[in-house]
Amino acid sequence: MVRGRPRPRVLSQIRRLYGDEPSPPRIAHFLECTVHLLSTRRSTFGYLPFTIESVKILFIGDIVGEPGRRVVKKLVPQLRQRFGLDLVIANGENSAGGSGITPKTAEEIFSAGVDIITSGDHLWDQKEVTVLLEDEKRFLRPLNYPPGTPGQGSAIFEIRNPKFEIRDPLSIAVLNLQGRTFMPVLENPFLLAQAEVERLRQTTKIIFVDMHAEATSEKIAIARMLDGQVSAVIGTHTHVQTADEQIFPGGTAYLTDAGFTGPHESVLGREIEPVVKRFLTNQPQRFEVAKERVLLQGAVVEIDEAGGKAMTIQRVSEAI
Ligand SMILES: [Fe+2]
Repeated sequence: MVRGRPRPRVLSQIRRLYGDEPSPPRIAHFLECTVHLLSTRRSTFGYLPFTIESVKILFIGDIVGEPGRRVVKKLVPQLRQRFGLDLVIANGENSAGGSGITPKTAEEIFSAGVDIITSGDHLWDQKEVTVLLEDEKRFLRPLNYPPGTPGQGSAIFEIRNPKFEIRDPLSIAVLNLQGRTFMPVLENPFLLAQAEVERLRQTTKIIFVDMHAEATSEKIAIARMLDGQVSAVIGTHTHVQTADEQIFPGGTAYLTDAGFTGPHESVLGREIEPVVKRFLTNQPQRFEVAKERVLLQGAVVEIDEAGGKAMTIQRVSEAI
């Protein structure tokens, strides 16, 4: 696990929580809440009371086909409990038969405990996706499609943090971008991201970015550009989990690629033989979704609620 900056002090947290100076009744209530937290999140005992104002987000790398949906269904409830997750985001662009997404597969993913689904270049592979684009507020497509494209590239979601019932719901923004290097050319994600992040920050400092791109350089560059402005930039699309998780100096957590969620005894989730044959013969092949060694891959990011800075980032790769 990569750790970020030191956590804020107790008194300043009390000031922010209650909006006034830390009077004895305020401190008493704060301590009461801390005890409540202790009883529900024992694993954080060593850090209390400095970790109480954090939000934990699990990001799940590209879900591939039925095996991917199955492992999400099996593991997300366990991971929610184990990490004390507040929000789960998943890239679902390959969740329907390995290409695209439908309302039915999206519903399966939501029912498993995923709050928000992002997408990418396989957005249009299933024609039913238009239903999601038009009606599903929990579904995002890359922001940088041309103006007039249905759907939304970012959204603000409100979650109620059960740790502190006294608080207003917490706003978290999720932004979906797509790269242009070795990919279909869309609008410039760098220019659009700057403007969109500025707009989102008027509502919340907790901003999570799924950068769906092929080129490592494009992912790192956009994350460096947004360092200090967003909480995390996690890459998707290549289906290979990278080991470069880190927190940049401005407080943005970064991982070049989250990996993929599905069968790993494969070539990026597909049966091995047809892919090899395609490379050998240059002839079209049918690429079925593979079956074996099913993993859920992604990362858990812990974010300071007040400043939106990342505190820790930890990769996840779990077998079904
Ligand atoms: Fe993709």
